[in-house]
Amino acid sequence: MYSLIKPLLFSVDAETVHDFAMKISSLSPALGSLGGIPLDERLMTQVGSCTWTFPVGLAAGLDKNADSLEFFSRQGFGAVECGTVTLQPQDGNPKPRVFRYPEEESLRNAMGFPNRGFMAMDAKLRAFEGRTPIGVNMGKNKETSAEESINELALIYETLTDHGDYFVVNVSSPNTPGLRAFQEVSYLTELFSELKKLQAIYHKDLYLKIAPDLEAAKVRELAQFVEAQKLTGLIATNTTIKPELGTGGVSGKLLTKKAHEIHELILAEDLSSELIGVGGFSHPTDLFRYWGLGGKAIQIYSAYVFQGPALLRNFKTAIHSFLETNQLTSLQSFFDLPKSERIKCVKDYPAYSVE
Ligand SMILES: Cc1cc2nc3c(=O)[nH]c(=O)nc-3n(C[C@H](O)[C@H](O)[C@H](O)COP(=O)(O)O)c2cc1C
Repeated sequence: MYSLIKPLLFSVDAETVHDFAMKISSLSPALGSLGGIPLDERLMTQVGSCTWTFPVGLAAGLDKNADSLEFFSRQGFGAVECGTVTLQPQDGNPKPRVFRYPEEESLRNAMGFPNRGFMAMDAKLRAFEGRTPIGVNMGKNKETSAEESINELALIYETLTDHGDYFVVNVSSPNTPGLRAFQEVSYLTELFSELKKLQAIYHKDLYLKIAPDLEAAKVRELAQFVEAQKLTGLIATNTTIKPELGTGGVSGKLLTKKAHEIHELILAEDLSSELIGVGGFSHPTDLFRYWGLGGKAIQIYSAYVFQGPALLRNFKTAIHSFLETNQLTSLQSFFDLPKSERIKCVKDYPAYSVE
C-alpha cells in the first residue's frame, strides 16, 4: 500500500506531505493498525524504568506536538518520542526546510523546533491511553539564554511529568544557533542538578540527546557525565552536519556509519546507564550490528519515511528468527544475558554481517 502511494507523496514538498500525514493520522488514529504490527509480549524490552513494547521506537521530530501518539503506537513503535517541545510556541526557520535524498534514503532538515509549545502538548499527552511509553523531547526557545533555559526545561519537565514516561534534553540540534555549545559539561551540570531535584519527586527517566559530530574524547566525557550524574542514559545521535549538502542536519543512511561509530565508542565504556541508539537504522542488519556492540533499543525516523510500516514488520520478522535460532523465549531473556554472551549470540548468527 505504502509503496503504491509513495511516488505521489514524494512528488510533493517533504514538509507539506509530512503535515498532511500528521493531519490524517491525528484525525484517524485507528488507521495506524493498517500495516502496523500487533503487540507481542515476547518482544517487550525494559529500557530505564519504561517497558518498551518493541525494541524499535519512533525518534523525535516526526510527531513534534504529540498529535498522533495513538497512530504511531498502533503502528507498533515500541516507544514514541514527541517533540522537540519548547516553552513558548515558535515557528522555526523559513521554508523550505526539509529535503529528501531518495537514492540514499536520507533527509536533511533545518526546521529549528517549530512547535505549539508545552502547554498545548500537555493536553495531547493527557489524552493518550495506550501502553506504549511516551518520551518528551525538550529544547530551549531560539532566543533563550543558557541561564534562562535551565528554568524553562525544569518547568516543562515538571508540567508534563504526569503524562510523559521519559524526558530528553535535546542540546544537539544543528538548527538552533549555538545550541550544540550547550553540550559543555559545565552547563549540563547546572541544568541536570535542577532537573534531578525534580526527578527526586517525580521519578521520570531523564536522557541527554547528543550530536554525532563530536570528538571521541567529548563523546566519552558526556557518557561518563551521564553515568556519574545517574541519569537514565544517552540518546545518540541527532542529525549530522554536511555543509556540502546545505544547511541543517542530515539523517538516514548518510548518517549510519557516523552514528555507528558513536554507538561503538559509548558501548565500549561499559556503563550501567542506558544507550538508545538512533541514526541511520534502516534494515534489521543494522540492528544486529548494534546488538553486536552490546546495544539494546533503537529509534528510527528517516527509514520510516522511505519504507513506511513495512519497516517495522521486517524488523519484527528478523527479531523472531533471531530468537528462534538462539532458542530464546523472549527478547528480554536475550537482554538479561551477560554482554559477552549477547555479543556472541549475535556474531554467530548467520544474518549478522559487517560491511
Ligand atoms: C525532519 C526531521 C526533524 C527532526 N526533528 C527533531 C527534533 O525536533 N528533535 C530531535 O531531538 N531530533 C529531531 N530529529 C532527529 C531525529 O530524531 C533523529 O535523531 C535523526 O533523524 C537520526 O535518525 P534517522 O537516521 O533514523 O532519521 C529530526 C529529524 C528529521 C529528519
